[in-house]
Amino acid sequence: MTKAELIDYLLQRQLIQDRSVDVISLPGGVSSEVTLVRTANRDFVVKRALATLKVADPWHSDPRRSHTECQAIQYATRFIPGAVPKILDADLERNLFVMEYFGHEYTPWKSQLMDGEICAATAQKMAVLLATIHNASWGNHEAESLFDTTDDFFALRIEPYLVMTGQRHPELQEFFGAETERLGRARTALVHGDFSAKNILVSSDRCVLLDWEVAWFGDPAFDPAFLLNLFYLKSLYRRKYFDQYLDLIATFLKAYAEHLVHFDHALECRICRLTLLLMLARIDGKSPAEYITSDSDRQHVRRFVKELLLDGVVEFAEVDARWRKEVAGL
Ligand SMILES: Nc1ncnc2c1ncn2[C@@H]1O[C@H](COP(=O)(O)OP(=O)(O)O)[C@@H](O)[C@H]1O
Ligand SMILES: [Mg+2]
Repeated sequence: MTKAELIDYLLQRQLIQDRSVDVISLPGGVSSEVTLVRTANRDFVVKRALATLKVADPWHSDPRRSHTECQAIQYATRFIPGAVPKILDADLERNLFVMEYFGHEYTPWKSQLMDGEICAATAQKMAVLLATIHNASWGNHEAESLFDTTDDFFALRIEPYLVMTGQRHPELQEFFGAETERLGRARTALVHGDFSAKNILVSSDRCVLLDWEVAWFGDPAFDPAFLLNLFYLKSLYRRKYFDQYLDLIATFLKAYAEHLVHFDHALECRICRLTLLLMLARIDGKSPAEYITSDSDRQHVRRFVKELLLDGVVEFAEVDARWRKEVAGL
């Protein structure tokens, strides 16, 4: 959508009164056009889902996921009202919606983490928010029928991360294959599906969780695993903050376990297994972590994940101990 088309559209929807507005493309996303619109008296964001994602490998997904995102934000508003954006307008035909803008007082959590501003309180807060949404939707029929999105979840998560990585590692294919099948059947709670630091905005008194287009009624283990695998990778990339990243993982898991009513050992094992699979997927899947650029770092992750999968490791205490040993030896 060009700038002129967007302005025409906003006038037609009466979201703006005249053409004297600033239209600024927001960077960061790969699956949507995200645009900040500034008018004399208010700012807002227009998010339009794309059919083809902006990554190196071909990756398509139904743009109607914009509707899923709106529904998930509205659903989550009931349980974590201050932690999701307010929706100002939605247009199902154009696969776009309009939401409040979180301005200069907000920073993406990812930027803070990369800059060494590693705040345990944020991990604690986000774990409690996640547990709240998982608790609220756990076994809930309304959430199950609203977020019956396994096909989209397959296209956006299972295929590009698990199926593709399994194909690139035939010796580990059985682990990726088993997880793919298991997730295809899992129906437990509302999963955010893109629970990573780039989708979390932090201010001095608030955390906001954006980007709900992958929302799915499935296995909640996916969300902590999606976040925590990146903390392991970041600890490799930003080695001077190694201990802080590992502490963050422990803080997050402890708070999540304390607040999730249904937390048990089986869930921890599922989170742990998925964390390992996703770590390798972030090296060899369709959406690699852009900061792991050295071949030797990639090889370390490949060797580490392979060893732990073949050894049957499913507990964080052991992943933690072996990752410390692995990285200390580098
Ligand atoms: N409502 C908002 N207020 C402020 N920044 C936003 C808002 N929505 C998105 N952004 C910024 O744009 C980036 C991309 O938006 P996101 O919803 O994550 O799209 P994508 O699905 O393409 O990842 C976010 O990481 C965030 O930095
Ligand atoms: Mg995003």
